[in-house]
Amino acid sequence: MLTAGLANLISASHMAILPILTIPDPILRKKARLIERVDADLRRLMDGMLATMYDAPGIGLAAPQVGILRRLIVMDPAKDEAPKNPVIMVNPEILTRSDEMRIHEEGCLSIPEITAEVERPARTRVKYIDRHGKPQEMELEGIWSTLVQHEIDHLNGVLFIDYLSRLKRDMIVKKFTKAKRADAL
Ligand code: NI
Repeated sequence: MLTAGLANLISASHMAILPILTIPDPILRKKARLIERVDADLRRLMDGMLATMYDAPGIGLAAPQVGILRRLIVMDPAKDEAPKNPVIMVNPEILTRSDEMRIHEEGCLSIPEITAEVERPARTRVKYIDRHGKPQEMELEGIWSTLVQHEIDHLNGVLFIDYLSRLKRDMIVKKFTKAKRADAL
């Protein structure tokens, strides 16, 4: 399922912290492909993504953020003190969304130090494949609902800044574009 290059990258990293891409990296705007098989390579990637997410620290991470265009997300909104409660979803798909909305101050590891309020459905029902390759369904609410929608957006090349006004979004992208250009000099 994984390309040789990807398998090498993952095995070389041994659950090490993976580099996280930041905007305006074009990979973050691409659509990720369906995963056909949950195997050892994929589980290694899951472990690496979780380690990377906890290290950042963040509460969610999608495979495209570590440069891998596959439909895989990991999430754990628990605070540092709470026991770890990671949820891993392969090929997640939203089945239903509530009419009721909730607003959350979102951030993203690919857009460091920027947060903004985003309104999304308060409850979602999602189907996905779990770490063992078994199909699952889950009802999510509160922070979990926001999080799963944010992470699934990543699989479609969508970022939370896309929900802001064009002016705000352009300002944020410009800031990161300039910073990267300055780094390259
Ligand atoms: Ni994000």
